[in-house]
Amino acid sequence: MPCSSALAHEASPRATAILRIAAIYYASASLVCTGRGITMKRVLITYATREGQTEKVANRIRELLSTAGANVTLINATDALKRQDLDLDSFDLLVFGASIHAGSLEKEIVRFIERHAQQIAARDRSFFLVLLSAAAEDPEMREKWLGEVHEKFDGQVAVRFADLEMVAGALAYTKYAFPVRWLMKRIAKQAGHSTDTSRDHEFTNWDQVTRYAQRLLREQAEPEAETE
Ligand SMILES: Cc1cc2nc3c(=O)[nH]c(=O)nc-3n(C[C@H](O)[C@H](O)[C@H](O)COP(=O)(O)O)c2cc1C
Repeated sequence: MPCSSALAHEASPRATAILRIAAIYYASASLVCTGRGITMKRVLITYATREGQTEKVANRIRELLSTAGANVTLINATDALKRQDLDLDSFDLLVFGASIHAGSLEKEIVRFIERHAQQIAARDRSFFLVLLSAAAEDPEMREKWLGEVHEKFDGQVAVRFADLEMVAGALAYTKYAFPVRWLMKRIAKQAGHSTDTSRDHEFTNWDQVTRYAQRLLREQAEPEAETE
């Protein structure tokens, strides 16, 4: 029985009505109802970024989860590696974000996951990848590339992630050093993206990011709501 119903069982009709309204409010705020009472979901988002797009996506997810009532801690993997006081067991959900460069994840996120593998494997978790392959126009090519990335991803992280979201990143021409800009312009041309290097080009689908955040909340809340 959900905990709001348990409370309502013993209350007067007026108190019951108030409890029902409160329950609807809490549900709409996506708060978690546990057997011990109503508690706020605690989420840790650990991310790694090179040119800033993953950080932007991580910030949007933090914003969305916080607005829905979750208690979110956002931390760069480089800082997280330095922290001794980060207790992963105190979070209900662990979200990781990283980008792909030459097929590889940032070393700091790989290291962080390796260091805390046991704790991470024991918790609800999700990973979002930010990469250019997800922006490919041709659906066949996109699926092929993302499949290859997925396979390589599994080989790089010490913990299995059943939930992996792939989000299109950005061409950050203005942030690249000359040789990288030249290389990325060539790759972009082949992929049919803009070769105008005077500015950056963002491909991130923010609706997808919103749906991802909503799904994180929903999937986390569902098993809890069924507890007695
Ligand atoms: C040198 C370099 C190599 C890249 N390699 C890949 C790659 O192998 N696959 C891919 O899908 N995207 C690749 N990208 C695109 C990045 O993943 C994309 O720009 C992403 O938005 C970067 O995120 P960040 O700003 O958080 O680091 C590469 C970008 C650069 C600059």
